[in-house]
Amino acid sequence: MEIIVGKDLFSKLQKFLNKYNKKSIYIITDENVAKIHLKSLISYLSTFHVRVYVLKPGEKSKSLDIVEDIYEDLIENKYDRSTTILSLGGGVVGDISGFVASTYLRGVDYIQIPTTLLAQVDSSIGGKVGLDFGKYKNMIGSFYFPIANFIDVKLLNTLDKRELTSGLGEIIKYGIIKDYDFLKYVTKNTRRIYDCDEDVLLNIVKKSVSIKSQVVNKDERDLGIRRILNFGHTIGHGIESLFGFNTYNHGEAVILGMMYETYISKEMGLIDDEYFNEIIINLINLMPNKPNIETGDSSLSRIINIISHDKKNVDGNIVFVLPVGRGEVEIFDDIDIGLIKNSLKGDWL
Ligand SMILES: NC(=O)c1ccc[n+]([C@@H]2O[C@H](COP(=O)([O-])OP(=O)(O)OC[C@H]3O[C@@H](n4cnc5c(N)ncnc54)[C@H](O)[C@@H]3O)[C@@H](O)[C@H]2O)c1
Ligand SMILES: [Zn+2]
Repeated sequence: MEIIVGKDLFSKLQKFLNKYNKKSIYIITDENVAKIHLKSLISYLSTFHVRVYVLKPGEKSKSLDIVEDIYEDLIENKYDRSTTILSLGGGVVGDISGFVASTYLRGVDYIQIPTTLLAQVDSSIGGKVGLDFGKYKNMIGSFYFPIANFIDVKLLNTLDKRELTSGLGEIIKYGIIKDYDFLKYVTKNTRRIYDCDEDVLLNIVKKSVSIKSQVVNKDERDLGIRRILNFGHTIGHGIESLFGFNTYNHGEAVILGMMYETYISKEMGLIDDEYFNEIIINLINLMPNKPNIETGDSSLSRIINIISHDKKNVDGNIVFVLPVGRGEVEIFDDIDIGLIKNSLKGDWL
């Protein structure tokens, strides 16, 4: 698999398709991305047989109904084993395209062109593809790698601020779990990232892709070290779910999760006050509004209940990834529930 990070990559994609003699292309995208980037992409594909499937934007499209509809469209239009599926969009488009590619005719080639910061640094890397099932997120899926991933930072210019924040959550996570110097670089350059400074974006996307790839390559099936990528996600998923997936986007929920989990780490004496303050200040600066998790017993119990049922737990124990030093984390499964509740009450914020 090739991962190419750069600018203006559509002509490179065209060369790639020619080199591998790919003639039949099936693009999956969503309405927002189609409006902005589809015309330009198609202008590079004039010598190929191309069909486009456009999803409604948003998480609701990651469903079996939509997958069925795509299968039908592929069959009716006689797309066979030689088909290459091109995913042009954020994580939703990427996850569903990859799932279709992994299952249609027992698997056809697919290529990712991620268009959100989150998709570029996270969801397009690592081979996880899948769907939501009813209210259960990412419940159906598989591991399936694209034959190439064209990560073009110029496509990010049209993202709104909250989508950039979402990606930044995961990027800061990489610094905290693996690379303190990178954390420093990212927090120093936050303004430039929001301004879509191409050089800074190139640096941070390259580094993030490299950190995630290194971790994933050691543990493709998510049974060991890959779990450190879940820093911020234990409480983050609890918050996403508590608010019904429509108050905070994924990266924002992870930012909040990292704040609460860093507090747990400090209270356990795993990190010093200076590092704790550094992380919290940088994270809080990304969130326009202070988190408003109700501190009443019922919502605290609800969130603990959600966290207790997380599919990442092992033998019924809640698994946490906690900072233990600068650029370093460890996995714990014996955290005191009282401490989790104290953290969530947030009166320390
Ligand atoms: N497979 C994985 O390993 C993995 C990892 C993390 C997240 N995910 C999944 O990713 C999804 C979230 O991805 P996301 O945050 O990219 O959300 P998304 O795909 O819903 O995109 C967010 C919004 O941005 C719009 N958009 C996309 N590109 C744009 C562009 N260039 N300019 C303007 N608007 C643009 C989309 O239309 C959408 O409205 C979730 O379903 C999550 O489960 C998967
Ligand atoms: Zn995440």
